[in-house]
Amino acid sequence: MCMKEDIIKEDIWILAIETSCDETAAAVVKNGRDVKSNVISSQIALHTLYGGVVPEIASRKHIEKINQVIEAALDEAGVSIGDIDAVGVTYGPGLVGALLVGVAEAKAIAYAAKKPLIGVHHIEGHIAANYIEHPELEPPFFSLVVSGGHTHLVRVKDYGKFDIIGRTRDDAAGEAFDKVARAIGLGYPGGPKIDKVSKEGDPDAIVFPRAHVADAPYDFSFSGLKSAVLNYINGCRMKGQEYSQADVAASFQKAVVDVLVDRAMHAVEEYHIKTFAIAGGVASNSALRAALKEACEERGVRFYYPSPVYCTDNAAMIGAAAYYEYIGGTRLGWDLNAIPNLKLGER
Ligand code: KG4
Ligand code: ZN
Repeated sequence: MCMKEDIIKEDIWILAIETSCDETAAAVVKNGRDVKSNVISSQIALHTLYGGVVPEIASRKHIEKINQVIEAALDEAGVSIGDIDAVGVTYGPGLVGALLVGVAEAKAIAYAAKKPLIGVHHIEGHIAANYIEHPELEPPFFSLVVSGGHTHLVRVKDYGKFDIIGRTRDDAAGEAFDKVARAIGLGYPGGPKIDKVSKEGDPDAIVFPRAHVADAPYDFSFSGLKSAVLNYINGCRMKGQEYSQADVAASFQKAVVDVLVDRAMHAVEEYHIKTFAIAGGVASNSALRAALKEACEERGVRFYYPSPVYCTDNAAMIGAAAYYEYIGGTRLGWDLNAIPNLKLGER
């Protein structure tokens, strides 16, 4: 293995692969922050037919698309596999069949081309998305990771070193968006649709609950909120009353945003945080961004968020995280496997 000094002196090119859910993605990233290509083949249209991600279909589609997505990423970056220093891949958490496609592909490429293999935790990738457009951002900082599968308040102690200080006890924030969207007839994926329709609604029209988890000031719970929305629309239906889709969407979104901002700012104050970054699909929500930006500004906290393309699943963020794992000396073996419930910070 090279010494860390030697590695940092020259440019490091990572080929990154992400297949943990319903996006088949590959990217080429130079030195962790310079994205040379970021190719995403989305399966959203396919899963929309079923109202959510169908794991078996996701795996099959990844197999169909993975080779052409990787070729496109290398072409767009103007490099061949020989120019790459390491192959980074998401190996958990996620859908096991979907993860396996990326992991098997990464192992095959790395083995054939004699390149090191770097396994990346999906959430580590989401957090690293913030490095891409913010060259000055470096740990330590705090991050709120809000995606379809996770809602975590994370202390980023260093590159690849994390403490989870808060998490959801039930649904993830994105999951709540998707379920509520389905219930009010907006379809899948719910987050972007609720975000859009909320702009026409009154966020104070209906007061939905903001849950607190007893003795856990940084934890979240969204299942009660989801039930409250379902009860509200069922109640309207039973009374033969119409309800406003836009008002329900806006009031639900406000309840989620209030809870996320409340817990995040509680952490900011208690831990004396000066830098805060959001990550994950829900981080592209316009109301959440605006509310966190304002709350951070009021407290003199630097606030970072990735462009929407780097919030939802992509491989550039995996390339960014893989780079820091690479210079930190991480090298995984040919026995690397997909771990659907991989914990952050665990190997
Ligand atoms: O990070 P991501 O692409 O996949 C996971 O790792 O889960 O996040 C997908 C989630 C979905 O639940 C989707 O509805 C939500 O992010 N999402 C949004 C928005 N865009 C995507 N939620 C709220 N507002 C948005 N603009
Ligand atoms: Zn994700």
